[in-house]
Amino acid sequence: MSTAAAPADHVRTRVAIVGAGPAGLILSHLLADAGIASVVIDQRSREQIESTIRAGILEQGTVDLLTAIDPNTRVHTVGDRHDGIELRFGGEGHRIDFRDLVDRSVWLYPQHEVLKDMLALRLASGQDLRFGVTASRVEDAETDHPRVIATAADGTPLTIEADFVVGADGSRSVVRAAVTGTSKGGYFREYPFAWLGILCEAPPSADELIYSNSENGFALISQRSHDVQRMYLQCDPDADPNALSDEQIWADLQSRVPGTTLKEGPIFQRDVLRFRSFVAHELRHGRAALVGDAAHTVPPTGAKGMNLAIADVVVLAKALVALLDEDDVRLIDEYAETASRRIWKAQHFSWWMTSMLHLTPETSDFDRRRQLGELRSVVDSRAGRTYLAEAYTGWPTGA
Ligand code: PHB
Repeated sequence: MSTAAAPADHVRTRVAIVGAGPAGLILSHLLADAGIASVVIDQRSREQIESTIRAGILEQGTVDLLTAIDPNTRVHTVGDRHDGIELRFGGEGHRIDFRDLVDRSVWLYPQHEVLKDMLALRLASGQDLRFGVTASRVEDAETDHPRVIATAADGTPLTIEADFVVGADGSRSVVRAAVTGTSKGGYFREYPFAWLGILCEAPPSADELIYSNSENGFALISQRSHDVQRMYLQCDPDADPNALSDEQIWADLQSRVPGTTLKEGPIFQRDVLRFRSFVAHELRHGRAALVGDAAHTVPPTGAKGMNLAIADVVVLAKALVALLDEDDVRLIDEYAETASRRIWKAQHFSWWMTSMLHLTPETSDFDRRRQLGELRSVVDSRAGRTYLAEAYTGWPTGA
């Protein structure tokens, strides 16, 4: 080996984790807690990871876990507990009271804040965490010594030899091919609409999130802080986020939340979120497994993405500890089935919220009236509201 090369182009660890998103970082923490070393790589820089705008709702179980990881987590100071949401349709708002229905809550705390917290914690604990490292493939997943083949930011080749490889590398996962046999293999559905997301400088328009089904299409009124708000409006998947003026966006948003006057302000960020549902055909093959977006994608309506990723790693961490410390294969053999139970419940919930709240060009008069009947069935029934509250605040881990 040339001494001029980067110091280590060959590392050995127990678990190689590809992806430093919430799933990869939390997994590295849970493993470290059990005395199992890991190396985490991510092709992005720390700044990129910390500044990517994603969703903002944490389930009760996610908050419990983040609190166990760090009792001083900023979720409780910067984040905001929400005890319900509003479903709005036919010009009326209907509160889904989580506390009353299931005695649980959710927290509004943006994903990039979770990432900032977790990155700081992992780095302070001495985690081997490498930014700007791009994985190209996983080799020998069928053996006890799988490898990640990667390239560092400066072009130096890097091989990580491990006892197990985890793909926490998002929807364009490189690890997926080693698990499913193809990079795409999975159950998939695409929706004929997207969300135009905006960030604006304005005070909150409501105390809680408003999910609004209107004749003009769906809108979601969410929040970020006392002076920054996050809102979404249903749009065409190919829409140019910059095609509309601020005035047009505000007029559109106002028309979609009849009965509430939204507080307006300058819009400083716009993005289009496409709607997809995906579950990989296989979640584990030999000594490689998938978690988070590498394993599944949900449309954002149910706010399940990051929560589901974290639920996966809670299951996987236990299985890896049993496998690597006790040579016990039972939990890892059950990983795909255990994780799938929650994944498909979350898939259903995300699809259901999406289908109940959005209109498509194909929506007939019958469909429209049926949809309003469905919303009525939910809000008029304690059982209906309870299902929504249970799913939204999150099922217990392992369920
Ligand atoms: C958000 O605040 O970004 C958010 C909240 C709820 C959702 C999706 C996104 O269902």
